[in-house]
This record gives sequence, C-alpha cells and structure tokens, in this order.
Amino acid sequence: MAEQPLADVIVLFGGTGDLAQRMLFPSLYFLDADGFLADGFRIIATARAEMSREAFRAQVKDAVGGRGGASGLDEKVWARFEARLDYVGADATTPEGAAELKVAIGPAKTPIFYLALSPSIYGRVCAALAAAGLATPQTRIVLEKPIGRDLASSKVINGAVAQVFAEESIFRIDHYLGKETVQNLLALRFANVLFEPLWNNLTIDHVQITVAETEGVGDRWPYYDEYGALRDMVQNHMLQLLCLVAMEPPSDMEPDSVRDEKVKVLRSLRPVTRADVQAVSVRGQYTAGVVSGESAAGYATERGQPSETDTFVALRVDIDNWRWAGVPFFLRTGKRLPERRTQIAIQFKAVPHSIFDAAAKADLQANRLVIDLQPDEDIELLMMNKAPGLSEGGMRLQSLPLSLSLAKAYSGPNARRRIAYERLILDVIAGNRTLFVRRDEVERAWEWIDGVADAWRESGMAPKPYAAGSWGPSGAFALIERSERAWYD
Ligand code: BG6
Repeated sequence: MAEQPLADVIVLFGGTGDLAQRMLFPSLYFLDADGFLADGFRIIATARAEMSREAFRAQVKDAVGGRGGASGLDEKVWARFEARLDYVGADATTPEGAAELKVAIGPAKTPIFYLALSPSIYGRVCAALAAAGLATPQTRIVLEKPIGRDLASSKVINGAVAQVFAEESIFRIDHYLGKETVQNLLALRFANVLFEPLWNNLTIDHVQITVAETEGVGDRWPYYDEYGALRDMVQNHMLQLLCLVAMEPPSDMEPDSVRDEKVKVLRSLRPVTRADVQAVSVRGQYTAGVVSGESAAGYATERGQPSETDTFVALRVDIDNWRWAGVPFFLRTGKRLPERRTQIAIQFKAVPHSIFDAAAKADLQANRLVIDLQPDEDIELLMMNKAPGLSEGGMRLQSLPLSLSLAKAYSGPNARRRIAYERLILDVIAGNRTLFVRRDEVERAWEWIDGVADAWRESGMAPKPYAAGSWGPSGAFALIERSERAWYD
C-alpha cells in the first residue's frame, strides 16, 4: 500500500452521542496517552446542541474518566488531550452547518469525518460536506453500522455516500475487527505453519462461533426492535468472524488482498431457503428470568408490547467451496444468555484409527482449537495426552489444553486491554483500510441475511421464547444435535 499521509484532524459527528462518549473519546484519549497522536492533531466534535467548548470538554472529561478505571485520568495527558478538543454546534446535514465546520477545521489537509449518526442521514451529510468543499481526495469518511436494514436500503446508503466519496476514502467500521484476538486469528492462521495444512474439510469436523451476552436490550429497543439479533450481530460481527476463519490465505495484508478473500467466502455461503429454514435456523426472544443471580425482565416487557423481534439466533451455515464442503459452521448469538462469551471453536476430526485398548479408546477425544475473544483473550488447543501414573489394563488418555493466555503471556503497557476502536481509529489516521469493510462485503452479507429473513417471513417462523439466563430456545440444541454434535457450554 502506498504510504498515506497521516490525518491531521478528526471531526466526530454525533459527538454528544452514546458511541462517541463511551467509546470514541476514551479511545482517542488512550491513543494520546500512548503517544499515538501527533502534536498538531485536533479533535472536533459536532452535534446540533449549542454548547461552549468548555462545557463540552467537561462532558468528555467525565466520559473519559469513567473509562479510566482504577488508574483514573492522568492530568498531564488530559491537559494535552483537552487542548486538542473543540466543539461546533451545527446541523451537519445542511451546507451552512458544513460551512461552519469548515471554519473550525481551518487549514487541515487530511481530515477524518467520523459519522456516528443515524445511517439514514449519511447521504445528506456527505452532500453537505461536498457543498462546503470539504470532500477532497484526501478526506477520509468513517461509517458506523448498521449500513441499511437489508440489501436494498444498504445500497441506497452506500450509493448516496459514493456520490461524494470514492471507495478508497470510505472506512466502514465493524468494531469486532479492532479486537485484539480477532487480529490474532490472522496471526494464528498465517504466522504459523502448523494449522494451514489442517485447515480444511479433511481434518476439521465443524466450527462453532458463539457471541453470548448477558445484557438485555434495555432502552435500546427503538433501534433494536427494527433489527433483531440477525441484523444487529450476525450480518456484521459474526459473518466477519466466519470470513476470517474460512477465507483463503491472502497474499499480503493489503486492504484489497484481505477483503477479496472475505468476499469470496460471503459469495460461497449456501443460501437459506424456505424449504430448509426450519432445519438450519432458530429464532428466540427472551422472557423473564435470572441472569448472573439477578432477575431480568423479558424483552416484550422492556419493549412495552409484544414483539416479533429475535434476541437470539442460531444458524447452521454451509460454505459451498472445496475447502469447506461438508464442514458446517454453527453460529449462535443472543442477549440475556447465562454468560458473556465470544468464542470460536474449531473442532477437528477424530483420529482415523485407534491403536489403544478399550479403556483408552473410550477416553479418546478429537482435538479442538478454542479461541476465546471475550471476556478473556485465550487460545487453547486441546490435545490428547497420557494420564500420568499406572492403571490396570493399560494406559489411560486425557485431553489437556496447550494454552496461550494473552493476559499471562504479556505484561507492560502493550498488554493493556484496549478498546477495539483504538486500533481502528489509529488505522484511519494512517489511512489503512485492511480492517474496514468494503462495500461489496456489506452488500453480499446483506444479500445472504435477506435470504434468512425472507425464509423466516415466508414460513411464518416467529421467535421462540427462552428464559433470560438460559442458552436460548431448546431448538438451538436440536439444531446442532441433528448432525450429532453439541455446543460447548
Ligand atoms: C453492537 C451491537 O454492534 O455490538 C450490540 O449493536 C452488541 O447489540 C455489541 O451488544 C456487542 O459488542 P461487544 O464488543 O460488547 O461484544
């Protein structure tokens, strides 16, 4: 990739919003603390509300302080960070609003416009930026999900942005790609010689991807009720994880090398049809229950009325290509599950023949590679091993993990658990698009998701209830048991 100039200003649209306050400002602060922001780099927040720069800085200080944990804010770093911060109260969908921003941006040459806004106004904001002369080839535009609710609406949004910006200037965020262990998946697969020869249907039996959350939807329902787990989690984060597991080795880390391989996987996903939707998918919605020892209301109660929205989805996904033919990928995600866990498990096949006698043979388990992304960042390879000691009737076998715990292996400043947005913002500043999602990826993913949603609708598949604190409706167990496999709980 040709060297890109470093960005010199970031403008956060939706600067008073939840995402900016919880994630984006703390990420920028931590980048500053670690010396990643150049001296003249500026941060301008914009939203409709009128507010003084001082009041805004105080608001950001609270937000960042809340994230600082036990160490709190470092006053020296804060003083430097605060001096970078500015606020402009403006309506960014109008040329006048964009003109006000232009004044605040001043002579900066490589601006980042980060749209933490409702995607329905991306097009208008881009048009206003163009009208104010702020859409130059140097400009970088960052788009948050959800980019649409289906293929048709995502094309409208992408199309409106493309009227103003070239694809090379667009950075579509999927914050899962900024997570340390997700990038570690690339290191594990492509920086080791061990796995790649085994990474196929000759040796792998199936793959499980779980994204379990204990939190409910709470007051996010006005957004969530329109989307549900399929559109909120599977379309983006889970399909991205699946792509990184399933893609062919790219020739290098250039943005298009990696993204070309991911798109090929998305194109190979077997469409879900009305005929097989009952067999390969489960929809659920939580009812009242107990999570982590505390009682939790059902989704319909939070929503204030009955709803057909899924808060849990399990899917069997088949990838129709040479590498993965016959290897199902089982995906499940849900809110109000018993624990927070994001995990990828690669289940290898059993040994083709056992040389052991009956007792040891019964102990034999197939190898499994378990990649934990959250809450802990661990990689474990389960290996068979001789159980120590003497036993009548010959040796016994036991499965033990070869374990890579990132927390134990690394200490010092680099080991700090980072917000996924830190990596991604740093990459936008550097102009590196490898960890961002290309338009065709988003659209292929929607195309496949639309197939699932259409099949649900055509076959009248409503979400099945599951008690908060359980692992989803019983159908989720049946889904995987039909192929004589089981979830790792
Ligand atoms: C977001 C979804 O994209 O990801 C949320 O909109 C979800 O519903 C969140 O809770 C999960 O992210 P993380 O990083 O907490 O696993």
